[in-house]
Amino acid sequence: MKLLFRFMKKYWFMALLASAFMIGEVYIDLYQPRMMAEIVNEGVLGLSNGGKPDINLIVSTGIRMLLVVIAGGLCGLLSAVFTNMTGQGAGNDIRKLCFERIMSFSFEQTDEFSTGSLITRITNDVNQVQQLIMQLIRGLVRCLMFFIGGSAALLSLDMSFGVIVACAFPLILIDIIFVVWRANPLFTVLQKSLDRLNSIIQENVTGIRVVKAFVQEKSEEQRFNEANQHLVDTQFNVQMLLSFLRPVMNIVLNMAVVGIIYVGSIQVQEGSIAPGTVMAAITYISQILNGMMMLAMIFQILSRGLASTKRIQEVIDTQSEIKQEPLPMVGDGSRGSVRFEHVKFVYNDNGSEILHDIDLSILPGETLAIIGSTGCGKSSLVSLIPRFYDAAEGRVLVDGIDVRAYDPAELRKKVTVCLQKAEFFSTTIRENIALGDPDADDEAIRKAAAAAQADKFIQHQKDGYDTAVAERGMSLSGGQRQRIAIARALLKGGEILILDDVTSALDLKTEAALYAALNRDYTNLTKIIIAQRIASVRNADRIVVLDGGTIAGCGTHEELMASNTLYRDIYDSQLKEEETL
Ligand SMILES: Nc1ncnc2c1ncn2[C@@H]1O[C@H](COP(=O)(O)OP(=O)(O)O)[C@@H](O)[C@H]1O
Ligand SMILES: [Mg+2]
Repeated sequence: MKLLFRFMKKYWFMALLASAFMIGEVYIDLYQPRMMAEIVNEGVLGLSNGGKPDINLIVSTGIRMLLVVIAGGLCGLLSAVFTNMTGQGAGNDIRKLCFERIMSFSFEQTDEFSTGSLITRITNDVNQVQQLIMQLIRGLVRCLMFFIGGSAALLSLDMSFGVIVACAFPLILIDIIFVVWRANPLFTVLQKSLDRLNSIIQENVTGIRVVKAFVQEKSEEQRFNEANQHLVDTQFNVQMLLSFLRPVMNIVLNMAVVGIIYVGSIQVQEGSIAPGTVMAAITYISQILNGMMMLAMIFQILSRGLASTKRIQEVIDTQSEIKQEPLPMVGDGSRGSVRFEHVKFVYNDNGSEILHDIDLSILPGETLAIIGSTGCGKSSLVSLIPRFYDAAEGRVLVDGIDVRAYDPAELRKKVTVCLQKAEFFSTTIRENIALGDPDADDEAIRKAAAAAQADKFIQHQKDGYDTAVAERGMSLSGGQRQRIAIARALLKGGEILILDDVTSALDLKTEAALYAALNRDYTNLTKIIIAQRIASVRNADRIVVLDGGTIAGCGTHEELMASNTLYRDIYDSQLKEEETL
C-alpha cells in the first residue's frame, strides 16, 4: 500500500477528476430509471391525468433521457481518460524506478532474484499494479456508488423494498468473501509459476544454440510443459473459484427481482404505488446487485494487484550492497596501482572460500599476468578490483584508496574490465565498441580497434563499422567477439586494464600483435592479463601463479622457470601439447 500512495501522490488530482466523473456517470445511470418511471406512470398510464396517455410528455421525457444519457457517456469517457492517465503515469514511474534499481543491483543480487523473475516483475507485475490503481479510482467508486446510491434511490421509491435488499445483501456478501478468501493465496502462487515459466523461456530462447547442439529440445520442451501446466492449473483453479460467483449472484439477483415484483404488485393493487415505479425498483435492484458483482471482480484485481505490489516492493526495497562507504579518500598519489591486502573471498555468506589470504601489489604501468588452472579463482580475484564483489576479509586498494571508499561509478571509470564472456548489444559494431565512450570520434574508435587487431576484419564486414551485430554478437566468430570487446575496453581507457582470458580464441600471432600494440600505445595503463597459455604471458613484467585460491608463485618467466615447480609443470605440459600438435 505504501508503494501505491507513493506513486499516486503525483497524480492525485487526475485520480480525483477520474473519480468525480465516475460519480457523475453513475449518478446519471441511477437517475434514468426515474425518468423511465415517469414515462410509464404519466406518459403511458396517465395516472395523474385520469388514465389518459400523454404523448407530449413521452416525447419530451424521451428527449431529456437522451440528453442525460449523452452527458453520462461524456462523464464516462472523461473518467476513463483520467483513469488511464493516472494508471499509465504511475505504472510508468514504477517501471522506471524498478529498472533503475535493477541496474544498481550487485552481481549477487541479480543472481538472487534471477533474471526471469526480474523481467516478470517489471512487466507483468507492474501491469497488475496499474490495473489495481485504475480499479481503485474507477471501479471501486463505481461499485460503491451503485450500491449506496442505488439503495438510497430504491428506498426513496418505497421503504418496503428495503426488506429485499436486506435479504439479498448477506447472501452475496458471503459468496464474495468465500471466493476472495479462497482465491487470494492462489494469486501469489500464480505469480510464482509465471516467474518460473518466464525463467525457462528466457534460458531456452537465449541458449537455443546450446539446446539444439546437445539435442535437448525434447527435454527442454518437457521442462517448459511442466511449468506451463502448473501455470494453467493454477489459473484454472482461480477461474473455477471465480465462476462460483456468477451463478450464485444470478440466483440471488433473480430472487430479488421476483421479490420486488411480489412486494410491488401487492402495493400496486392497494394503489399505494404506480406500476412504473415498480419497474424502476427492478432496475435499481439489478444495478445494486450488479455493482456488488463488480465489487467481487475488483476484489480479485485488488488481491492480485497487492501480491504484485509486494513483489515490486521487494525490488524497490533492495538497496545495492555496493555502496560508497565513508572511508578516507586519501591516496598514495599513484595512478594505476592496485594492492590486495590479505584478501579472503567467498561468493555467498555460507559458500566455500574461493581466495585465501591474497597479498599482492601491482605497480602503475606494470603488465601483470595471472595464470592458473580453470576454477582456481582468477576471475574472482580481478572482479574485486572494480568492486563487482566485496572481499570477505582484508582490503583491496586502488591508487592507495580502499575500493569501498570510491563512488562505484568513479572506480569503474578508472578500472576497465574486459570480461571473459563478452556481452553484445544489437546495434552496430561502432556502437558496441563505443559503449564506454559514446561520444568517441571515428579516429579514436579505429585506433582502439586497430590495437585490438580488429580493424582489418571489421573493414571487411559488409558495412564496415556500421555493420549490424546480431543479438548477443551471434553474427561474429568467437575471436572476432573477443577482439571487439578488447577494442571496447581500450577505447574506454582509464588507469587499469583487466583482460580476463580474452585471447583464448585468438591465434598466437594475433595475440602477439595485440600485446605488441598494448606495449607500444598503452604504456600508461596498468595491465592485468589473465591467460591460459604460458606463451601469452611470458613477456609480462611479472607473472602470478594462482593455485586453489592462493598465490603459489610470483616473478618473471625466467624466475618462475627457475624456482616454481607448478609453473614449470604448466610449461612442460603446454610444450608437450605443442609438440604433439
Ligand atoms: N557467481 C558465482 N557464484 C558462486 N560461485 C562462483 C561464481 N563465480 C565463480 N564461482 C566459483 O568460484 C570458483 C573460482 O571461479 P573463477 O574465479 O571464475 O575461476 P577462474 O577464472 O580461475 O577459472 C569456482 O569454483 C567457481 O565455481
Ligand atoms: Mg575465469
